[in-house]
Amino acid sequence: MNDKDIEQIVRDEIIKSILQTQEFLVVGNWKMNKTKHEVIAFLDAVANYDFGEKNTVVIAPPSPYLYLFEDRLRYSKILYGVQNFYPKENGSFTGEISFEMARDFGAKYAIIGHSERRMIFSECNAFVSKKVRSCIQNQILPILCIGENIDQRKSNDYKNFISEQITEGLSLISESDLNNVIIAYEPIWAIGTGETATPDQVEETHIFIRKFLMDKYGAQIGKDIPLLYGGSVNAANVKSLALAQSVSGFLIGGASLSAQTFIEINDILNGK
Ligand code: PGA
Repeated sequence: MNDKDIEQIVRDEIIKSILQTQEFLVVGNWKMNKTKHEVIAFLDAVANYDFGEKNTVVIAPPSPYLYLFEDRLRYSKILYGVQNFYPKENGSFTGEISFEMARDFGAKYAIIGHSERRMIFSECNAFVSKKVRSCIQNQILPILCIGENIDQRKSNDYKNFISEQITEGLSLISESDLNNVIIAYEPIWAIGTGETATPDQVEETHIFIRKFLMDKYGAQIGKDIPLLYGGSVNAANVKSLALAQSVSGFLIGGASLSAQTFIEINDILNGK
């Protein structure tokens, strides 16, 4: 064994021990995917898996399958949430579901302001902020998604853009509620494209967001808001992304659809 091999072994052991101690929030965003049979097969594969104590594991399935999650994850460590809801208790809102319906089936989280909702369904910051407020008022943890498109990234204006998404997205809740908020940084150019942001890009942006949160809401509150990264995360890149500073976890689309890959990613984030 030469010096390089020894160096590598030592480095691997250090990384392992970091991953074994750091707490992560791992959220699977299934988007509009899977049939009932596929959902059942996935849940059967993960329901009794040992995800350990350290990390929080969440899946956001399409809402019609929430009843399967409630039924099959009763004794599991996996929590679940919704990908969207309308910020009213009930009423004439054809095609929408309410937070109460989500809660009825045990949903604990809601993905809010995902770029696909902003782009395809024209959701603006003002509407997103109402959803965040509605989550807080109804004991659902909002995962507020922010992120720039490729032109904004290239023009170097993206930091202003994401700061505004944060400021406006959180504008209707009080400071004391900020400890129930999760932020997911998802650069649009990296979502579903296979083009992940590099660990350096993620670290740079997360450090910027962390500093922004601490300046705006105070050091203590700003330091504690979990900051997820999302955009083409998979089993091959999650380890290096997890080591980037200020990354508290991941929002994972495509790679969360396979039970085997989802387990593999979680194993990596447990330092296994
Ligand atoms: P992706 O999606 O992992 O497939 O890029 C992430 C997301 O949109 O939340």
